[in-house]
Amino acid sequence: MKIGFGSDHAAVELKNILLEHLKEQGYECVDYGAYDPAVKTDYPVQGQKVAEALVRGEVDKGVLVCGTGIGISLAANKVPGIRAAVCSEPYSAKLSVQHNNANIIAMGARVVGPELGKMIVDEFFQASFEGGRHENRVDMIAEIERKYSK
Ligand code: RB5
Repeated sequence: MKIGFGSDHAAVELKNILLEHLKEQGYECVDYGAYDPAVKTDYPVQGQKVAEALVRGEVDKGVLVCGTGIGISLAANKVPGIRAAVCSEPYSAKLSVQHNNANIIAMGARVVGPELGKMIVDEFFQASFEGGRHENRVDMIAEIERKYSK
């Protein structure tokens, strides 16, 4: 699996830690920036980059980090086909895949520390979408997207 990573300046360090952690597990990792915590960058830039790379098929899943994980996930979720879930604990990360078929995990570098962050991505990448009764609900989200994309 190929994973795209993105962050703003506030979360470069956690993004790098998560990237190395997943790379050690054998995932192919692509870094879409930011690269320098000293250079301020606006979170929609990297949120959009990773989201578009995912819908283009360049990567299969994404990891996005900003101060809270909120701004960068909101930006990514504007790209049709993206389901980015902000999680600050592993249980929600796992359920975001099992029930919501999330394709991007987001978190806040000012909210979670590196060890908790690693547990969150581990649960996210080990989980599988359960389909069944959840399929229709995820389809309903896509239907809302279609309605407002016209
Ligand atoms: C940057 O200061 C901060 O606003 C950003 O990282 C993020 O938390 C926004 O949602």
